[in-house]
Amino acid sequence: MLGSDLRKLYLEFFESKGALRLPSDSLVTNDPTLLFTVAGMVPLVPYFLGEQEPPSRSVTTVQKCLRTNDIDGIGDSSHCTFFEMLGNFSFGGYFKKEAIAWSWEFLIDVLKLDLDRLRVTVYKDDDEAFALWESVGMPTRKIFRFGEDTNYWPANVISDGPNTACGPCSEIFFDTRPNLPPTPDAEWDDERWLEIWNNVFTQFERRDGGILTPLPRKNIDTGMGLERTTAAINDLRGPFETDFFVPIIERLQSLSGKTYTRTEDQKTDIAFRRVADHVRAMTFLIGDGVLPSNVGRGYVLRRLMRRAILAGRNVLGFEKPFLAAVVPTIVAEYQEVYQELKHREFTILRYAEIEESQFRKTLAGGSDRLNALLEGLSEGDKLPGDDVFTLFTTYGFPSEMTREIALERGVGIDQKRYEERLAEHALISNAGREREVMVKNVVVQALRETGVPSTLFTGYSETVSAAKVVAIIAGSTLTSEAQEGETVQLLLDQTPFYAEAGGQVGDTGRIHSDYSELTVDDTTKDSGYYFHKVTVTAGVVKLGEVVRADVDVCRRDAIRRNHSTTHLLHHALQQVLGSHVQQRGSMVAPDRLRFDFSHDKPMSGDEIRRVEAIVNEQILADYAVDTSEKPIDEAKRMGAMMLFGEKYGSTVRVVSMGPSLEFCGGTHVAHTSQAGLFKLVSEGSSQAGVRRIEGVTGERALLKILDQERILQDASSALKTTPTNLVAALERLQSDLKSKEKELASLQKAAAGGIVAELVANATLVGGASFVVSTVAGADGDTLRTLTDEILGQLKSGVVILGSAEGGKVSLAIKVSKDLVDRKVNAAAIVKAAAVVVGGGGGGRPEFAQAGGKDPSKLEEALAKARSLAEAALDG
Ligand code: ALA
Repeated sequence: MLGSDLRKLYLEFFESKGALRLPSDSLVTNDPTLLFTVAGMVPLVPYFLGEQEPPSRSVTTVQKCLRTNDIDGIGDSSHCTFFEMLGNFSFGGYFKKEAIAWSWEFLIDVLKLDLDRLRVTVYKDDDEAFALWESVGMPTRKIFRFGEDTNYWPANVISDGPNTACGPCSEIFFDTRPNLPPTPDAEWDDERWLEIWNNVFTQFERRDGGILTPLPRKNIDTGMGLERTTAAINDLRGPFETDFFVPIIERLQSLSGKTYTRTEDQKTDIAFRRVADHVRAMTFLIGDGVLPSNVGRGYVLRRLMRRAILAGRNVLGFEKPFLAAVVPTIVAEYQEVYQELKHREFTILRYAEIEESQFRKTLAGGSDRLNALLEGLSEGDKLPGDDVFTLFTTYGFPSEMTREIALERGVGIDQKRYEERLAEHALISNAGREREVMVKNVVVQALRETGVPSTLFTGYSETVSAAKVVAIIAGSTLTSEAQEGETVQLLLDQTPFYAEAGGQVGDTGRIHSDYSELTVDDTTKDSGYYFHKVTVTAGVVKLGEVVRADVDVCRRDAIRRNHSTTHLLHHALQQVLGSHVQQRGSMVAPDRLRFDFSHDKPMSGDEIRRVEAIVNEQILADYAVDTSEKPIDEAKRMGAMMLFGEKYGSTVRVVSMGPSLEFCGGTHVAHTSQAGLFKLVSEGSSQAGVRRIEGVTGERALLKILDQERILQDASSALKTTPTNLVAALERLQSDLKSKEKELASLQKAAAGGIVAELVANATLVGGASFVVSTVAGADGDTLRTLTDEILGQLKSGVVILGSAEGGKVSLAIKVSKDLVDRKVNAAAIVKAAAVVVGGGGGGRPEFAQAGGKDPSKLEEALAKARSLAEAALDG
């Protein structure tokens, strides 16, 4: 049976049982404790916890999943990072009885699996599940009881967390070695029995300390790994032999010219599987908006890509980039089920290309350094962990690569020290952030437990609100008052202060009453609470007090101008550069805006001017800015621009102005004309494939222009001309300068000619050899060298010793004709001795040598020394 058929049969079967089929959610999850969707239930957690109403009591999905706990192991024949999970779920609808009966029905009646090849497990205390399995026909001897480490989901959740929806589970196993004698009843053989299906009876929410609180409803969460089940029921060795991977491996074979031989341990076979897995994961990750970077999800993606490149380059022999060449095969295979791959194929290809060419450059750079380090080592040595670490942090050179190259010379690496350094490094760079997050979590938990309601935001329509102080937080503890001079976090029941989100910075302003005066330095939010970072400047503020919350309106207005203009800019960039332009980040502050977007080359001057012109046209067009709340599907239908890779709730706020329509929670001007004016200040690269624009609006834009005008004025008056004639004046100046330079050069040449003639004329004869020994005023080392050449050129045979002192630095140059070198006059030896006199050093060849020194007062002495050494050599 093809894997794609299994997918279809499963979903249709559970639809026939009344489940609603939902499309797969993104690999990018909303859950702050997870980087990726690791199971079919992850996007459904709010339904399990009763936080949101599900669209139906029961649903069925095939969910894209990614698990990265064992990246290093990928390459064996059974593990994948990316995989698809089939699931059926119930939110207070059917429970254990149906879940077990339907599992049985699907396996036995639909897939027609041999009962002899099936076994099940239940949680040790779950007598109910045990009995239910017996009642559908599972022989008692094939039902096993296990503990929390295998039969609770998530595993060991009771003793070890995380806090989430959980429950006991019952797993179904398939015999992968039917040709061996049957496993004795009481025995379990992990190698032989493969888990294909997990039924979780999700009835608890785990709280701190392993406390299990019953959920409002009893739920069902199930998972069946699509690739591994396809392999098992077809008696294939593993996922890589299923129809999911065959086309990918075939493509790799034809690109590399190497053959996949299906062995477990041959290097090329491992590389085939590793590359196939990682490229498939990469395609789905970029398809869901994850882009390679050095943090979080982006870093996992980068690691997968780099590992694929290393295996492809070192083992499969890909000298040139190859990742992108595999992508179309994967897109073609999956596009029917996952249409996002087709829509984003261009983006996937671009990032695959950019990342691979960059990484290959990195590899080339690091290789030189590594080879230099290896030079000093011999076989059996270990490359120090500190070097491995530096290669990684400075040259981006992964340790696996270092290890492999070192091994070629019989050298190992000190892995332990490397890992220590890495851990220290990670600790230093994460510690600050982690502490912050921990404090926030503690505070939020305390607020919830004290029953503090979430904050109502009033700031879309007003900038002043009357409000009640509902919490005061000093450090990480709740307190009842704050005195003059204290800095605390203050929570109000409602607030007009915008909390930092979507790139827009938090509001500042003041909170005051008859009893107290506070300045608000920043506003942030977390889990529905708005935190005002305040300093009490007078009086005492107390819990329960009614205050006036006053946003700094001038600053807010400046922010609004920049935020609305950011939308216009986004739209203008798409018009000028193309629809591949996607927002990759933004920062909206009072004094400027910053916008990062996907585009892989610098903008030309013309493109920049057009973007600026379009934005300003739209400001002048005075479009009304409209905001409304819409169901997400409707907003999408309207074509609102949403952030790639971002998660949204079921209703979204949509902001429109003229042709621009975006999902956005920020604050905006009422009419575009209020932005006044837009001036683009800079355009540059932010990271590979991402450009960054900075700009200003309103008064700032005007100031920027006035500033430039002033610079122009100053420059013009310095050149005694007008701004209009400035360019012409500059051109004139440059051409004057050029002709003056020429003139100077020819004068210098003539002067040098004069010096040469004079020195040649004054040459003295010693022991039958001509000697020129002299200081040359104002000459540097290069000039001295030229002069010695020219003088000796005229003398034919002789010794030329020149010296100069320029700006406290001494230069010496000595040139000796070939015939005198034969008579043992050695320029290098002489210059070395003479340099000592002026406190310096130098060297060269017997024919020519140069030196520098620090003591101009000894120049004459040094020349005399050189002369006497040369003469002595002649005599000798
Ligand atoms: N959530 C369960 C699992 O992933 C079904 O195994």
